[in-house]
Amino acid sequence: MTRELLSWYKKHKRELPWRNTSDPYKIWVSEIILQQTQIKTGINYYLKFIKSFPNIESLSKATDLEILNMWKGLGYYNRALNMLKSAKIIMTQNMGVFPSKYSELIKLKGVGPYTAAAISSICREEKKAVVDGNVYRVLSRVYNISEAINSVQGKKVFQHLADKLIPSKKPGIYNQAIMDFGSTHCTKHQPKCHDCVLKKRCIS
Ligand code: ADE
Repeated sequence: MTRELLSWYKKHKRELPWRNTSDPYKIWVSEIILQQTQIKTGINYYLKFIKSFPNIESLSKATDLEILNMWKGLGYYNRALNMLKSAKIIMTQNMGVFPSKYSELIKLKGVGPYTAAAISSICREEKKAVVDGNVYRVLSRVYNISEAINSVQGKKVFQHLADKLIPSKKPGIYNQAIMDFGSTHCTKHQPKCHDCVLKKRCIS
């Protein structure tokens, strides 16, 4: 399954402005924006954000008002205020070096297991499996799992399966592959099952 998803991704990966960088600061900005925002909307905000605040130092010098202005229309404004708080902490406590290790990322405000796994796998190929809405959908279909994804037990089942599936080689690329696959191929409505690389192994 891993191999099939990686070769699917080679052909079908989306060109996104944060796909050609392994700068953890930029990946962090993209992932925080995408937490509650669709990719299409997120792209413009990402570009605007990086243009004004290209690195952690420039962000740390911003005011609450500047950040909130930039975030206008995206909602969930605590995301932006937490970013500013984190930027200030990283400048004073980590000499301005944005962390890329899961164990350090998870300590930042607003960064949970999904975001820490995304940043650490994409930026340093740490073997940490992401489980977002797309991953829940792909795994529940391929393995025909009916466990509720909003229950503690269900979350455990999916995280455990995702941890077992993630390859040691290129885990960051694999994470992005399964998310893109869920988002553009194994879609919520009218998934493209007739033309699917996982057709043979998909129980559903
Ligand atoms: N959704 C959120 N982050 C993503 C990423 N890095 N790749 C694909 N989809 C995503």
